[in-house]
Amino acid sequence: AIEHTFSILKPDATRRNLTGAINALIEKAGLRIIAQKRVRFTREQAETFYAVHKARPFFGELVDTMISGPVVVQVLEGEDAIKKYRDVLGATDPAKADPGTIRKEFAVSLGENSAHGSDAPETAAVEIAQWFSGNEIVG
Ligand code: CMP
Repeated sequence: AIEHTFSILKPDATRRNLTGAINALIEKAGLRIIAQKRVRFTREQAETFYAVHKARPFFGELVDTMISGPVVVQVLEGEDAIKKYRDVLGATDPAKADPGTIRKEFAVSLGENSAHGSDAPETAAVEIAQWFSGNEIVG
């Protein structure tokens, strides 16, 4: 089925001017970027976005990393988009990611892994609603 997923190009990616290079891999995989904006997360926004990880030991480092520079938030559309984008991203840890994936090609480390993608339809809907209003999404 045609799905929507939420993507973030993280500060390590924007810092190294990789927005276009990552978008090229997204589009090559057949996903359409139907909404996109560059923003800077506040600490509160990052804590809300990653609330599911609040109890994890890496939570503080994760929030600090996400507010260390601009990010690009996106809505991606395509057949089976949630799984397809996870496949394009590769493993969370770039050392374990397959060749050709965004994280293998571009990520620095587990914490600075260049991009995020929703893990399920329910989280995609919540994440998209946090960052985009309906009229900003143009399919
Ligand atoms: P992401 O897909 O954005 O979802 C949560 C993020 O937490 C993940 O990518 C990683 O960047 C980060 N993360 C996961 N595990 C660790 C860890 N052990 N140490 C630091 N960061 C982590």
